[in-house]
Amino acid sequence: MTEWTTPLRYKPYHQWSTDYLDLLESVIQKSSWRQAFHIQPKTGLLNDPNGFSFYNGKWHLFYQAYPFGPVHGVKSWYHMVSDNLVDWKQHDYALLPDSPYDSHGVYSGSAITVGEKLFLMYTGNVRDKNWERHSYQLGAWMDSEMQVEKITEALIENPPAGYTEEFRDPQLFRYQDNCLMAIGAQTESGKGAVLVYQSKQLIDWELLGELDYTTEDMGFMVECPNLVFVDNQPVLLFCPQGLDNEITPYQNIYPNMYVIGSAFNKETVSIENTSDLINLDEGFDVYATQAFNAPDGRVLSVGWIGLPEIDYPSFEEGWAHCLSIVKELSIKDQHLYQKPVIEMQELRQHHEVLKGSVQEENLLLSSPDKNVYELKLELDSRASGSLYLFADKQNKEGLKLSYNAKDDTISMDRSKAGIPFGEGYGSIRTASLKKQDKLTLHIFADRSVCEIFVNDGYCVMTSRIFMKDPQQTHIFLQGFEGDYTGDFWTLREMNE
Ligand code: FRU
Repeated sequence: MTEWTTPLRYKPYHQWSTDYLDLLESVIQKSSWRQAFHIQPKTGLLNDPNGFSFYNGKWHLFYQAYPFGPVHGVKSWYHMVSDNLVDWKQHDYALLPDSPYDSHGVYSGSAITVGEKLFLMYTGNVRDKNWERHSYQLGAWMDSEMQVEKITEALIENPPAGYTEEFRDPQLFRYQDNCLMAIGAQTESGKGAVLVYQSKQLIDWELLGELDYTTEDMGFMVECPNLVFVDNQPVLLFCPQGLDNEITPYQNIYPNMYVIGSAFNKETVSIENTSDLINLDEGFDVYATQAFNAPDGRVLSVGWIGLPEIDYPSFEEGWAHCLSIVKELSIKDQHLYQKPVIEMQELRQHHEVLKGSVQEENLLLSSPDKNVYELKLELDSRASGSLYLFADKQNKEGLKLSYNAKDDTISMDRSKAGIPFGEGYGSIRTASLKKQDKLTLHIFADRSVCEIFVNDGYCVMTSRIFMKDPQQTHIFLQGFEGDYTGDFWTLREMNE
Protein backbone atom coordinates (compact mmCIF):
# COMPACT_ATOMS: atom_id res chain seq x y z
CA MET A 1 0.00 0.00 0.00
CA THR A 2 1.26 3.47 -0.86
CA GLU A 3 2.09 5.70 2.04
CA TRP A 4 0.25 8.90 1.21
CA THR A 5 2.57 11.51 2.65
CA THR A 6 1.68 15.18 2.26
CA PRO A 7 4.33 15.80 -0.48
CA LEU A 8 2.97 12.81 -2.41
CA ARG A 9 -0.63 14.01 -2.16
CA TYR A 10 0.41 17.41 -3.48
CA LYS A 11 2.71 16.14 -6.23
CA PRO A 12 1.77 18.01 -9.44
CA TYR A 13 -0.42 16.09 -11.88
CA HIS A 14 2.11 16.21 -14.73
CA GLN A 15 4.69 14.40 -12.62
CA TRP A 16 2.57 11.23 -12.47
CA SER A 17 3.17 8.81 -15.33
CA THR A 18 0.39 7.49 -17.56
CA ASP A 19 1.75 3.98 -16.88
CA TYR A 20 0.96 4.45 -13.22
CA LEU A 21 -2.62 5.52 -14.01
CA ASP A 22 -3.07 2.66 -16.51
CA LEU A 23 -1.97 0.16 -13.91
CA LEU A 24 -4.28 1.63 -11.31
CA GLU A 25 -7.15 1.51 -13.79
CA SER A 26 -6.52 -2.11 -14.75
CA VAL A 27 -6.64 -3.19 -11.10
CA ILE A 28 -9.83 -1.19 -10.46
CA GLN A 29 -11.62 -2.60 -13.50
CA LYS A 30 -11.51 -6.06 -11.92
CA SER A 31 -13.39 -4.93 -8.84
CA SER A 32 -16.84 -6.38 -8.14
CA TRP A 33 -17.76 -3.11 -6.41
CA ARG A 34 -17.67 -1.01 -9.58
CA GLN A 35 -21.08 0.38 -10.31
CA ALA A 36 -23.26 0.26 -13.41
CA PHE A 37 -25.14 3.55 -13.36
CA HIS A 38 -23.55 5.77 -10.72
CA ILE A 39 -20.87 8.34 -11.48
CA GLN A 40 -17.65 7.00 -10.04
CA PRO A 41 -14.01 7.96 -10.58
CA LYS A 42 -12.03 5.93 -13.11
CA THR A 43 -9.18 5.96 -10.62
CA GLY A 44 -8.56 7.63 -7.28
CA LEU A 45 -11.02 9.69 -5.31
CA LEU A 46 -14.22 11.54 -6.12
CA ASN A 47 -15.90 13.87 -3.67
CA ASP A 48 -18.33 16.80 -3.99
CA PRO A 49 -20.49 17.35 -7.06
CA ASN A 50 -19.72 20.78 -8.57
CA GLY A 51 -21.12 23.04 -11.26
CA PHE A 52 -24.36 21.09 -11.79
CA SER A 53 -26.04 23.01 -14.61
CA PHE A 54 -27.85 22.95 -17.95
CA TYR A 55 -25.94 24.67 -20.72
CA ASN A 56 -26.06 24.58 -24.50
CA GLY A 57 -28.70 21.85 -24.58
CA LYS A 58 -26.91 19.49 -22.21
CA TRP A 59 -26.61 18.72 -18.53
CA HIS A 60 -23.20 19.40 -17.06
CA LEU A 61 -21.88 18.01 -13.83
CA PHE A 62 -18.37 18.26 -12.49
CA TYR A 63 -16.88 16.58 -9.48
CA GLN A 64 -13.99 17.01 -7.09
CA ALA A 65 -11.31 14.61 -8.30
CA TYR A 66 -7.99 13.31 -7.11
CA PRO A 67 -7.09 10.68 -9.70
CA PHE A 68 -3.90 9.20 -8.26
CA GLY A 69 -5.18 7.37 -5.19
CA PRO A 70 -8.07 7.01 -2.76
CA VAL A 71 -7.04 10.02 -0.68
CA HIS A 72 -7.82 13.73 -0.50
CA GLY A 73 -4.86 14.91 -2.56
CA VAL A 74 -4.65 18.05 -4.64
CA LYS A 75 -8.10 18.43 -6.18
CA SER A 76 -9.35 19.28 -9.64
CA TRP A 77 -12.75 19.47 -11.35
CA TYR A 78 -13.63 16.58 -13.63
CA HIS A 79 -16.35 17.24 -16.21
CA MET A 80 -19.28 14.90 -17.07
CA VAL A 81 -21.90 15.67 -19.74
CA SER A 82 -25.34 14.17 -20.30
CA ASP A 83 -28.39 14.43 -22.53
CA ASN A 84 -30.71 12.75 -20.05
CA LEU A 85 -29.35 13.01 -16.47
CA VAL A 86 -28.71 9.26 -16.54
CA ASP A 87 -26.09 8.49 -19.18
CA TRP A 88 -23.07 10.58 -18.29
CA LYS A 89 -20.13 10.89 -20.65
CA GLN A 90 -16.72 11.51 -19.19
CA HIS A 91 -15.44 14.63 -20.83
CA ASP A 92 -12.16 15.79 -19.37
CA TYR A 93 -10.62 17.76 -16.55
CA ALA A 94 -12.21 21.20 -16.56
CA LEU A 95 -10.05 22.90 -13.94
CA LEU A 96 -6.62 21.79 -12.84
CA PRO A 97 -4.67 23.06 -9.84
CA ASP A 98 -2.19 24.96 -11.98
CA SER A 99 -2.35 28.61 -10.94
CA PRO A 100 -0.90 30.53 -7.98
CA TYR A 101 -4.48 30.93 -6.70
CA ASP A 102 -5.37 27.23 -6.69
CA SER A 103 -2.00 25.48 -6.37
CA HIS A 104 -3.23 23.22 -3.54
CA GLY A 105 -6.61 22.37 -4.94
CA VAL A 106 -9.42 23.52 -7.17
CA TYR A 107 -12.10 23.25 -4.53
CA SER A 108 -15.87 23.11 -4.80
CA GLY A 109 -18.10 25.58 -6.59
CA SER A 110 -20.96 25.98 -8.99
CA ALA A 111 -21.94 27.12 -12.49
CA ILE A 112 -24.47 29.38 -14.10
CA THR A 113 -25.32 30.10 -17.73
CA VAL A 114 -24.51 33.63 -18.87
CA GLY A 115 -25.34 34.46 -22.48
CA GLU A 116 -23.46 32.04 -24.71
CA LYS A 117 -21.20 30.77 -21.98
CA LEU A 118 -21.15 28.88 -18.74
CA PHE A 119 -19.63 30.75 -15.82
CA LEU A 120 -17.86 28.63 -13.20
CA MET A 121 -17.05 29.91 -9.74
CA TYR A 122 -14.94 27.91 -7.33
CA THR A 123 -12.53 28.13 -4.44
CA GLY A 124 -8.80 28.08 -4.99
CA ASN A 125 -7.04 26.45 -2.08
CA VAL A 126 -3.46 27.57 -1.42
CA ARG A 127 -1.07 26.56 1.33
CA ASP A 128 1.79 28.94 2.05
CA LYS A 129 5.25 27.91 3.21
CA ASN A 130 4.01 27.58 6.79
CA TRP A 131 1.20 25.39 5.48
CA GLU A 132 -1.34 28.09 6.35
CA ARG A 133 -4.49 27.98 4.23
CA HIS A 134 -5.51 30.83 1.89
CA SER A 135 -8.84 30.66 0.09
CA TYR A 136 -9.49 32.59 -3.11
CA GLN A 137 -12.82 32.73 -4.90
CA LEU A 138 -12.09 32.26 -8.58
CA GLY A 139 -13.92 32.27 -11.88
CA ALA A 140 -13.71 30.63 -15.29
CA TRP A 141 -15.68 30.67 -18.54
CA MET A 142 -16.64 27.59 -20.49
CA ASP A 143 -17.61 27.95 -24.16
CA SER A 144 -19.81 25.81 -26.38
CA GLU A 145 -16.78 23.70 -27.33
CA MET A 146 -16.45 22.92 -23.63
CA GLN A 147 -13.14 24.76 -23.47
CA VAL A 148 -12.59 26.30 -20.07
CA GLU A 149 -10.61 29.47 -19.52
CA LYS A 150 -9.74 30.61 -16.05
CA ILE A 151 -10.05 34.29 -15.14
CA THR A 152 -6.50 35.15 -14.14
CA GLU A 153 -7.28 37.42 -11.18
CA ALA A 154 -9.11 36.29 -8.06
CA LEU A 155 -12.72 37.49 -7.86
CA ILE A 156 -12.61 37.59 -4.09
CA GLU A 157 -9.08 37.78 -2.66
CA ASN A 158 -9.84 37.47 1.03
CA PRO A 159 -12.54 36.49 3.46
CA PRO A 160 -14.29 39.56 4.86
CA ALA A 161 -13.25 41.01 8.22
CA GLY A 162 -14.36 38.79 11.06
CA TYR A 163 -14.06 35.51 9.11
CA THR A 164 -11.20 33.01 8.74
CA GLU A 165 -9.60 31.41 5.69
CA GLU A 166 -12.09 28.52 6.05
CA PHE A 167 -14.05 30.22 3.32
CA ARG A 168 -15.18 28.12 0.37
CA ASP A 169 -17.73 26.50 -1.96
CA PRO A 170 -19.45 29.46 -3.74
CA GLN A 171 -22.93 28.65 -5.01
CA LEU A 172 -24.27 30.96 -7.71
CA PHE A 173 -27.96 31.58 -8.16
CA ARG A 174 -30.06 34.20 -9.88
CA TYR A 175 -32.25 36.40 -7.78
CA GLN A 176 -34.27 39.23 -9.29
CA ASP A 177 -31.86 41.16 -11.55
CA ASN A 178 -28.70 40.02 -9.86
CA CYS A 179 -26.55 37.05 -9.46
CA LEU A 180 -26.15 36.07 -5.84
CA MET A 181 -23.66 33.69 -4.31
CA ALA A 182 -23.83 31.75 -1.05
CA ILE A 183 -20.55 30.58 0.44
CA GLY A 184 -19.43 28.53 3.44
CA ALA A 185 -17.49 30.35 6.13
CA GLN A 186 -16.16 30.33 9.66
CA THR A 187 -16.27 33.29 12.01
CA GLU A 188 -13.14 34.39 13.84
CA SER A 189 -14.68 32.95 16.97
CA GLY A 190 -14.72 29.55 15.21
CA LYS A 191 -18.39 29.24 14.28
CA GLY A 192 -19.89 27.99 11.04
CA ALA A 193 -21.66 30.56 8.84
CA VAL A 194 -23.04 31.17 5.37
CA LEU A 195 -22.26 34.47 3.65
CA VAL A 196 -24.17 35.95 0.75
CA TYR A 197 -22.61 38.09 -1.99
CA GLN A 198 -24.09 39.87 -4.97
CA SER A 199 -22.77 40.84 -8.37
CA LYS A 200 -24.07 42.27 -11.62
CA GLN A 201 -21.15 41.44 -13.91
CA LEU A 202 -19.88 38.38 -11.98
CA ILE A 203 -16.50 40.04 -11.56
CA ASP A 204 -17.11 42.51 -8.73
CA TRP A 205 -18.62 40.85 -5.74
CA GLU A 206 -20.24 42.80 -2.93
CA LEU A 207 -20.86 41.20 0.45
CA LEU A 208 -24.51 41.46 1.45
CA GLY A 209 -23.91 39.88 4.83
CA GLU A 210 -24.14 36.72 6.88
CA LEU A 211 -27.23 34.69 6.11
CA ASP A 212 -29.68 34.59 8.97
CA TYR A 213 -31.45 31.21 8.91
CA THR A 214 -31.10 29.87 12.43
CA THR A 215 -30.50 31.05 15.95
CA GLU A 216 -28.45 27.96 16.78
CA ASP A 217 -24.68 27.61 16.52
CA MET A 218 -23.77 25.94 13.25
CA GLY A 219 -20.73 23.99 14.45
CA PHE A 220 -17.26 25.15 13.47
CA MET A 221 -17.67 25.40 9.70
CA VAL A 222 -20.45 25.28 7.13
CA GLU A 223 -19.43 23.58 3.91
CA CYS A 224 -21.29 23.50 0.59
CA PRO A 225 -24.29 25.78 1.20
CA ASN A 226 -26.92 25.75 -1.56
CA LEU A 227 -29.90 28.03 -1.62
CA VAL A 228 -32.62 26.90 -4.04
CA PHE A 229 -36.23 27.85 -4.53
CA VAL A 230 -38.75 25.03 -4.48
CA ASP A 231 -42.22 26.30 -5.42
CA ASN A 232 -40.87 29.77 -4.53
CA GLN A 233 -39.94 28.65 -1.04
CA PRO A 234 -36.28 28.96 -0.10
CA VAL A 235 -34.55 25.73 0.83
CA LEU A 236 -31.01 25.87 2.18
CA LEU A 237 -28.98 22.66 1.91
CA PHE A 238 -25.71 22.76 3.83
CA CYS A 239 -23.14 20.79 5.80
CA PRO A 240 -22.61 22.18 9.32
CA GLN A 241 -19.42 20.49 10.47
CA GLY A 242 -19.26 19.92 14.21
CA LEU A 243 -22.96 20.67 14.75
CA ASP A 244 -24.06 19.97 18.32
CA ASN A 245 -26.09 16.76 18.38
CA GLU A 246 -28.61 18.36 20.70
CA ILE A 247 -29.69 20.73 17.93
CA THR A 248 -30.57 17.96 15.49
CA PRO A 249 -29.50 14.38 16.16
CA TYR A 250 -27.27 12.82 13.52
CA GLN A 251 -24.76 10.00 13.51
CA ASN A 252 -22.60 10.61 10.45
CA ILE A 253 -19.25 12.24 11.16
CA TYR A 254 -20.59 15.40 9.50
CA PRO A 255 -24.22 15.96 8.55
CA ASN A 256 -25.79 17.21 5.35
CA MET A 257 -28.88 19.12 6.47
CA TYR A 258 -31.53 21.47 5.20
CA VAL A 259 -34.01 24.09 6.35
CA ILE A 260 -37.13 25.32 4.54
CA GLY A 261 -38.29 28.91 4.91
CA SER A 262 -41.28 30.92 3.78
CA ALA A 263 -39.31 33.62 1.96
CA PHE A 264 -35.80 34.81 1.24
CA ASN A 265 -35.28 38.45 2.14
CA LYS A 266 -32.31 39.96 0.35
CA GLU A 267 -32.44 43.24 2.25
CA THR A 268 -32.07 41.56 5.62
CA VAL A 269 -30.08 38.62 4.16
CA SER A 270 -32.37 36.16 5.87
CA ILE A 271 -34.56 33.19 5.29
CA GLU A 272 -37.84 33.88 7.02
CA ASN A 273 -39.77 31.42 9.20
CA THR A 274 -37.27 28.63 8.85
CA SER A 275 -38.04 25.05 9.85
CA ASP A 276 -35.84 23.11 12.24
CA LEU A 277 -32.71 21.58 10.78
CA ILE A 278 -33.49 18.26 9.11
CA ASN A 279 -31.16 15.52 7.88
CA LEU A 280 -31.22 15.48 4.11
CA ASP A 281 -30.48 11.77 4.01
CA GLU A 282 -31.33 9.41 6.85
CA GLY A 283 -28.75 6.81 5.80
CA PHE A 284 -25.00 6.67 6.11
CA ASP A 285 -23.01 8.32 3.40
CA VAL A 286 -24.50 11.43 1.83
CA TYR A 287 -22.61 14.71 1.99
CA ALA A 288 -22.03 17.95 0.04
CA THR A 289 -25.28 17.74 -1.92
CA GLN A 290 -25.53 20.29 -4.68
CA ALA A 291 -28.88 21.51 -6.02
CA PHE A 292 -29.97 24.00 -8.64
CA ASN A 293 -33.09 25.49 -10.17
CA ALA A 294 -33.00 23.95 -13.63
CA PRO A 295 -34.39 25.88 -16.62
CA ASP A 296 -37.14 23.25 -17.11
CA GLY A 297 -38.62 24.31 -13.76
CA ARG A 298 -37.39 21.37 -11.75
CA VAL A 299 -35.13 21.63 -8.73
CA LEU A 300 -32.49 18.95 -9.15
CA SER A 301 -29.96 17.68 -6.67
CA VAL A 302 -27.04 15.31 -6.59
CA GLY A 303 -24.98 14.32 -3.57
CA TRP A 304 -21.58 12.88 -2.85
CA ILE A 305 -22.00 9.35 -1.49
CA GLY A 306 -19.00 9.33 0.78
CA LEU A 307 -17.91 11.06 3.93
CA PRO A 308 -14.72 12.87 4.89
CA GLU A 309 -12.33 11.19 7.30
CA ILE A 310 -13.85 7.67 7.01
CA ASP A 311 -11.95 4.74 5.48
CA TYR A 312 -13.97 2.82 2.89
CA PRO A 313 -13.12 -0.76 1.80
CA SER A 314 -12.57 0.27 -1.84
CA PHE A 315 -9.53 2.30 -0.76
CA GLU A 316 -7.60 -0.97 -1.00
CA GLU A 317 -8.42 -1.09 -4.70
CA GLY A 318 -7.24 2.46 -5.34
CA TRP A 319 -10.60 4.21 -5.78
CA ALA A 320 -13.16 5.92 -3.59
CA HIS A 321 -16.77 7.05 -3.63
CA CYS A 322 -19.48 7.90 -6.14
CA LEU A 323 -22.22 10.45 -6.74
CA SER A 324 -25.88 9.79 -6.02
CA ILE A 325 -28.44 9.43 -8.77
CA VAL A 326 -30.07 12.74 -9.69
CA LYS A 327 -33.08 13.61 -7.55
CA GLU A 328 -35.95 16.03 -7.98
CA LEU A 329 -36.93 18.15 -4.98
CA SER A 330 -40.45 19.20 -4.08
CA ILE A 331 -42.29 20.45 -1.00
CA LYS A 332 -45.51 19.05 0.42
CA ASP A 333 -46.94 20.07 3.80
CA GLN A 334 -43.75 21.97 4.59
CA HIS A 335 -41.66 18.85 4.11
CA LEU A 336 -38.96 18.36 1.47
CA TYR A 337 -39.50 15.34 -0.78
CA GLN A 338 -36.70 13.84 -2.86
CA LYS A 339 -37.49 11.57 -5.76
CA PRO A 340 -35.35 9.94 -8.42
CA VAL A 341 -35.68 11.93 -11.65
CA ILE A 342 -38.15 10.42 -14.11
CA GLU A 343 -35.29 9.86 -16.58
CA MET A 344 -34.06 7.01 -14.36
CA GLN A 345 -36.72 4.90 -16.11
CA GLU A 346 -34.51 4.90 -19.19
CA LEU A 347 -32.28 2.37 -17.46
CA ARG A 348 -35.06 -0.20 -17.03
CA GLN A 349 -34.71 -3.55 -18.75
CA HIS A 350 -36.32 -6.81 -17.70
CA HIS A 351 -39.52 -6.27 -15.67
CA GLU A 352 -41.19 -8.53 -13.12
CA VAL A 353 -44.45 -7.78 -11.35
CA LEU A 354 -44.40 -8.65 -7.67
CA LYS A 355 -47.61 -9.56 -5.89
CA GLY A 356 -48.47 -11.83 -3.03
CA SER A 357 -49.12 -12.18 0.65
CA VAL A 358 -46.49 -11.69 3.25
CA GLN A 359 -45.75 -14.32 5.87
CA GLU A 360 -43.86 -14.64 9.10
CA GLU A 361 -41.07 -16.63 7.48
CA ASN A 362 -38.55 -15.29 5.00
CA LEU A 363 -40.21 -14.80 1.66
CA LEU A 364 -37.86 -14.73 -1.30
CA LEU A 365 -38.94 -11.87 -3.53
CA SER A 366 -36.22 -12.17 -6.10
CA SER A 367 -32.64 -13.29 -6.62
CA PRO A 368 -31.25 -11.38 -9.58
CA ASP A 369 -27.94 -12.21 -11.23
CA LYS A 370 -26.41 -9.05 -9.89
CA ASN A 371 -27.19 -6.21 -7.55
CA VAL A 372 -28.04 -3.79 -10.33
CA TYR A 373 -31.77 -3.18 -10.12
CA GLU A 374 -34.70 -0.99 -9.27
CA LEU A 375 -37.34 -2.29 -6.86
CA LYS A 376 -40.64 -0.68 -5.94
CA LEU A 377 -42.69 -2.16 -3.13
CA GLU A 378 -45.95 -1.23 -1.51
CA LEU A 379 -46.68 -2.79 1.87
CA ASP A 380 -49.41 -2.56 4.43
CA SER A 381 -48.06 -0.38 7.23
CA ARG A 382 -50.20 -1.81 10.07
CA ALA A 383 -47.64 -4.42 11.06
CA SER A 384 -43.88 -4.34 11.43
CA GLY A 385 -41.59 -6.14 9.05
CA SER A 386 -38.21 -6.24 7.36
CA LEU A 387 -36.82 -6.22 3.87
CA TYR A 388 -33.41 -7.80 3.27
CA LEU A 389 -31.27 -6.77 0.33
CA PHE A 390 -27.84 -8.00 -0.77
CA ALA A 391 -28.67 -11.16 1.21
CA ASP A 392 -27.13 -14.62 1.02
CA LYS A 393 -29.25 -17.74 0.35
CA GLN A 394 -29.91 -18.39 4.03
CA ASN A 395 -30.58 -14.74 4.73
CA LYS A 396 -27.85 -14.64 7.34
CA GLU A 397 -26.09 -11.63 5.90
CA GLY A 398 -27.32 -8.58 4.07
CA LEU A 399 -28.65 -5.06 4.36
CA LYS A 400 -31.69 -5.01 6.62
CA LEU A 401 -34.43 -2.42 6.32
CA SER A 402 -36.93 -2.67 9.17
CA TYR A 403 -40.23 -0.95 9.53
CA ASN A 404 -41.68 -0.51 13.00
CA ALA A 405 -45.45 0.01 12.85
CA LYS A 406 -45.76 1.03 16.51
CA ASP A 407 -43.80 4.22 16.28
CA ASP A 408 -43.77 4.55 12.50
CA THR A 409 -40.02 4.44 12.08
CA ILE A 410 -37.80 2.84 9.53
CA SER A 411 -34.25 1.72 10.13
CA MET A 412 -31.40 0.60 7.98
CA ASP A 413 -28.94 -1.85 9.50
CA ARG A 414 -25.71 -2.53 7.64
CA SER A 415 -23.93 -4.36 10.46
CA LYS A 416 -24.15 -7.63 8.49
CA ALA A 417 -23.81 -6.12 5.05
CA GLY A 418 -20.35 -7.13 3.90
CA ILE A 419 -17.06 -5.63 5.02
CA PRO A 420 -17.63 -3.36 8.01
CA PHE A 421 -16.47 0.26 7.83
CA GLY A 422 -17.21 3.54 9.59
CA GLU A 423 -18.45 1.49 12.54
CA GLY A 424 -17.37 4.14 15.01
CA TYR A 425 -20.39 6.11 13.81
CA GLY A 426 -22.85 3.24 14.23
CA SER A 427 -24.23 0.62 11.86
CA ILE A 428 -27.93 1.45 12.16
CA ARG A 429 -29.79 4.56 11.08
CA THR A 430 -33.43 5.21 12.05
CA ALA A 431 -35.86 7.74 10.58
CA SER A 432 -39.35 8.79 11.60
CA LEU A 433 -42.14 8.67 9.06
CA LYS A 434 -45.53 10.26 8.84
CA LYS A 435 -48.43 7.84 9.48
CA GLN A 436 -49.95 6.55 6.28
CA ASP A 437 -51.74 3.34 5.25
CA LYS A 438 -49.05 2.09 2.97
CA LEU A 439 -45.31 1.95 3.25
CA THR A 440 -43.72 2.50 -0.14
CA LEU A 441 -40.12 1.74 -0.88
CA HIS A 442 -38.33 2.73 -4.06
CA ILE A 443 -34.90 1.20 -4.22
CA PHE A 444 -31.92 1.56 -6.51
CA ALA A 445 -29.22 -1.03 -5.94
CA ASP A 446 -25.94 -0.73 -7.79
CA ARG A 447 -23.33 -3.28 -6.70
CA SER A 448 -21.80 -1.33 -3.82
CA VAL A 449 -24.42 1.31 -3.18
CA CYS A 450 -28.08 1.34 -2.31
CA GLU A 451 -30.41 4.37 -2.39
CA ILE A 452 -33.83 3.92 -0.80
CA PHE A 453 -36.66 6.44 -1.25
CA VAL A 454 -39.28 5.89 1.44
CA ASN A 455 -42.95 6.95 1.11
CA ASP A 456 -42.55 8.76 -2.20
CA GLY A 457 -39.38 10.51 -1.16
CA TYR A 458 -40.50 11.64 2.30
CA CYS A 459 -37.11 10.39 3.38
CA VAL A 460 -34.09 8.90 1.64
CA MET A 461 -31.69 6.38 3.11
CA THR A 462 -28.40 5.83 1.32
CA SER A 463 -25.60 3.41 2.05
CA ARG A 464 -22.43 2.07 0.50
CA ILE A 465 -22.13 -1.71 0.89
CA PHE A 466 -19.04 -3.76 0.20
CA MET A 467 -20.03 -7.43 -0.14
CA LYS A 468 -17.29 -10.02 -0.06
CA ASP A 469 -19.42 -12.20 -2.31
CA PRO A 470 -21.06 -10.51 -5.31
CA GLN A 471 -23.47 -13.50 -5.49
CA GLN A 472 -25.30 -12.15 -2.46
CA THR A 473 -28.22 -10.79 -4.40
CA HIS A 474 -31.22 -12.28 -2.63
CA ILE A 475 -34.14 -10.10 -1.64
CA PHE A 476 -36.30 -11.35 1.26
CA LEU A 477 -39.36 -10.02 2.97
CA GLN A 478 -40.31 -10.94 6.51
CA GLY A 479 -43.18 -9.85 8.75
CA PHE A 480 -45.71 -7.17 7.71
CA GLU A 481 -49.34 -8.07 7.14
CA GLY A 482 -51.62 -8.62 4.17
CA ASP A 483 -50.68 -8.34 0.54
CA TYR A 484 -47.76 -6.66 -1.09
CA THR A 485 -47.42 -5.38 -4.61
CA GLY A 486 -44.41 -4.17 -6.47
CA ASP A 487 -42.22 -4.01 -9.53
CA PHE A 488 -38.73 -5.17 -10.14
CA TRP A 489 -36.51 -4.12 -13.03
CA THR A 490 -33.00 -5.09 -13.91
CA LEU A 491 -31.17 -1.93 -14.97
CA ARG A 492 -28.67 -1.42 -17.73
CA GLU A 493 -25.27 0.19 -17.37
CA MET A 494 -25.11 3.86 -18.16
CA ASN A 495 -23.88 4.65 -21.67
CA GLU A 496 -20.63 6.45 -21.14
C1 FRU B 1 -16.55 19.17 1.19
C2 FRU B 1 -15.24 19.88 0.90
C3 FRU B 1 -15.47 21.31 0.45
C4 FRU B 1 -14.24 21.60 -0.34
C5 FRU B 1 -13.98 20.28 -1.02
C6 FRU B 1 -12.53 19.96 -1.24
O1 FRU B 1 -16.45 17.80 1.06
O2 FRU B 1 -14.39 19.83 2.01
O3 FRU B 1 -15.71 22.21 1.51
O4 FRU B 1 -14.41 22.63 -1.25
O5 FRU B 1 -14.56 19.30 -0.20
O6 FRU B 1 -12.40 18.79 -1.99
